[in-house]
Amino acid sequence: MNNRIVSGMRPTGPLHLGHYFGVLLNWVEMQKEHDCLYFVADWHALTTNYAEPRDVKGFVPELVCDWLAAGLDPERAILFQQSRVKEHAELHLLLSMITPTGWLERNPTFKEVREQSSKDLSTYGFLGYPVLQCADIVIYKPKWVPVGQDQLPHLELTREIVRRFNYLYGEYFPEPEAKLTSSAKLPGLDGRKMSKSYGNSIYLKDPMSEIRPKVMSMLTDTKRQRLKDPGEPKDCNLFPYLELLAPTGILPEIEEGCRTAARGCGDCKKLLAEKMADFLEPIQARRREYEARPDTLQDIIVAGSDKARALAQQTMDDVRRLLNFDF
Ligand code: TRP
Repeated sequence: MNNRIVSGMRPTGPLHLGHYFGVLLNWVEMQKEHDCLYFVADWHALTTNYAEPRDVKGFVPELVCDWLAAGLDPERAILFQQSRVKEHAELHLLLSMITPTGWLERNPTFKEVREQSSKDLSTYGFLGYPVLQCADIVIYKPKWVPVGQDQLPHLELTREIVRRFNYLYGEYFPEPEAKLTSSAKLPGLDGRKMSKSYGNSIYLKDPMSEIRPKVMSMLTDTKRQRLKDPGEPKDCNLFPYLELLAPTGILPEIEEGCRTAARGCGDCKKLLAEKMADFLEPIQARRREYEARPDTLQDIIVAGSDKARALAQQTMDDVRRLLNFDF
């Protein structure tokens, strides 16, 4: 039975808790029951960061280091780097021939990101982002693609391109399905979405000395001005963190204490700072192991890319045959 999973992340900087609870934890869970391929989408990083290509190189091992620290296991999952498997580029080219530009121009993510970005994203490569993403996925013929909500339009495009390919050249690619990651959306320290650009993130690799001040600076229920005012956990940015990191048994007590003003926000912050440190400790210990052995890290990326390439080459042999390009 095909239970293969493929997913990728762009190497744009260190991972924060939003990435961890939103996507990475799922990846770690899934490696136990599925054939997983997880890759660093370094070419995709160029679609927006084409003016600073030099930054990408350092971010690739950084990202893999975060993955390993979080518990991805190269013995269980294939961890690789997109640009080391050139077959993605060849398939992207062939798929670009059959993808109507209208589909890409209508893509909501394309319009949104292009309008909001300070960069000039009126490029061919940025428009074609979902075509490359389609190639990344279907080249391994997976059943599932675990992604966040924001990636659903891209996955729908992948399925449309697959249908068109199959219609033109014969039923070959299975239509991959999105596997929505169910995890809670974690707000940033200030209550907005956790994002590098907002400076409101806690990173997996944040030094322990910064964790406590960051937690102490978190915004809680803004309607609760004084200690004697009752609060509402549902309106507190800190509470979702406690739900993830504090023992579930004590949550009712915390909620009650907040609503009756018996418990202050400082108490919750102190508790969270402690639980956050406990949570990050083993992750950071694993990270230190890999940081001390950069060659091992490199070997993992190279070996994983070799395994992925062997699979991608089989697909490309078939695809070239289907297009009569098997010279
Ligand atoms: N677009 C994804 C993101 O921004 C990254 C990505 C590239 C990806 N190729 C992929 C995700 C293939 C899943 C499958 O997060």
